[in-house]
Amino acid sequence: MIAVAIDGPAGAGKSSIARQTAKEIGFIYVDTGALYRSIGLHMLNHNVFPGDAQAVSRELEHLDIGLEFQNGEQRVILCGKDVSDLIRTPEVSKASSQVSAIPAVRAFLLELQKNMAQTHNVIMDGRDIGTVVLPQAQVKVFLTASPQERARRRYQEILEKGGSADYEEILKEIWERDERDAGRAIAPLVPAQDAVILDTTDMTVREVIDRLKQWIAEKTA
Ligand code: DC
Repeated sequence: MIAVAIDGPAGAGKSSIARQTAKEIGFIYVDTGALYRSIGLHMLNHNVFPGDAQAVSRELEHLDIGLEFQNGEQRVILCGKDVSDLIRTPEVSKASSQVSAIPAVRAFLLELQKNMAQTHNVIMDGRDIGTVVLPQAQVKVFLTASPQERARRRYQEILEKGGSADYEEILKEIWERDERDAGRAIAPLVPAQDAVILDTTDMTVREVIDRLKQWIAEKTA
């Protein structure tokens, strides 16, 4: 099996790059952020404060998460319900970042993520894929871009979907999330020692995908 690990901060373009590359080379794309988001959503729905490590850890006993693939698209099944479309709100983003700092949450999700790579060729994106989840991955990329550029992309995306947004507010959220994700004691956001670091600030999506495909071809030839 071939595994491609893509890590990096929020808004660096990981998911669109990983999804499209996987489609072009026939791998499955595993979005691990969606798993943390589902746990965040579950806690909000059950009135458990996502920052309360003890309460969240206890609540994990009542949690059942699975991944399914429909036409190559990942769906997250939380306690029997497809929540893939419910986990993209700002409230869930914040809750997911909070629960992701809890060791029991990371342990809970580890096996599920590892299993996916045992049975499929995968492109998996997240924060700790190259360092913790798939340290054996043949290709490891750390995608990044300036906070301003990441905020600009997110802002653009919201406008294109017909929504309205405040650029400064988005930038502030990105700073906060970066700080929480990089500063936590467990699985902090750092590149694996053997990862290639790619700054996409001045690159188009197409350029990034082509570069990635080239690396995958070289490493797996
Ligand atoms: O990639 P995303 O924005 O959907 O991720 C949501 C949150 O989950 C993010 O704040 C960091 C966390 N996360 C993580 O800690 N480890 C991963 N492998 C993926 C996401």
